[in-house]
Amino acid sequence: MRFAPQRLNSLASVLSLLLLQGVEQVDGHYGFPVVVINGVVSEWWQYVRPVGPDDYGNYFQPLLDYTGEPQVCGIDGTKTGSITGTAKVEAGSTIGFIAFSAIVVTAPVWPTFNESTDGIRHEGPGQAYMSKAPADLESYTGDGEWFKIWSSGSSDGQHWDTYRKAELNFTIPKTTPPGKYLVRVEHFNISPIYGQTQQYINCAQVEVTGPGGGTPGPTIKFPGGYDPKDSSIWLPNALYQPQKPTELLKNYKGPGPEVWTG
Ligand SMILES: *[C@@H]1O[C@H](CO)[C@@H](O)[C@H](O)[C@H]1NC(C)=O
Ligand SMILES: *[C@@H]1O[C@H](CO)[C@@H](O)[C@H](O)[C@H]1NC(C)=O
Repeated sequence: MRFAPQRLNSLASVLSLLLLQGVEQVDGHYGFPVVVINGVVSEWWQYVRPVGPDDYGNYFQPLLDYTGEPQVCGIDGTKTGSITGTAKVEAGSTIGFIAFSAIVVTAPVWPTFNESTDGIRHEGPGQAYMSKAPADLESYTGDGEWFKIWSSGSSDGQHWDTYRKAELNFTIPKTTPPGKYLVRVEHFNISPIYGQTQQYINCAQVEVTGPGGGTPGPTIKFPGGYDPKDSSIWLPNALYQPQKPTELLKNYKGPGPEVWTG
């Protein structure tokens, strides 16, 4: 699919602004502008709400503030629903978010995946949430309840499972009630220094089909759901880059509620 002309125009104007501001190439930072649904790789920002630059004009910059609007869907992600499409996805199927590096944006021609620069470039956990739009999804600001559908830590007790992966994959739980949702993906560049754990957050718009029947929960809100003092965010030193596998890291649990598996 291609962007509708007016959607392309508004995207192009948001993004030419980024170019004017002289976005620097910063290896290591990343975002999730592309989703894989039913095995089909989307265009950039086709189903993921476009995000804006930070105060310095940089794009895909890490988020360090756990209280503001960017906590929901990235910078400006509460506002860009109307220029974003909604993907149909069958409950029980897998959805993937591909990580692209914070390289210079070349709107409206977006880069294709480059193995030497793209993918998850920082050590840390990944999680995913969903929130049902009470009415219209495009204008939904994500101020409702969010339930967790995926959480990835360290299965070997030494390395983070998502590190150097091209994408984050997870399943939309089988009994998710049909309807329109934001799907929020987050990845941390986790740090043992207070206030330094970086977040990378994006949201896709999906319409879930299927039989439903489940009651998603427990839920939290964004912003407000995370406390930067939580030891799953302000990582204890013993869990940071251990020299050998440790049960402490194996038992790491990301912030927020339990995963709802449907
Ligand atoms: C991928 O990135 C590397 C490093 O920046 C660059 O040398 C190479 O040309 C890129 N490959 C493609 C196909 O663009
Ligand atoms: C994600 O799923 C795709 C298939 O859609 C697969 O090729 C890829 O290896 C998976 N990635 C990870 C990190 O599991």
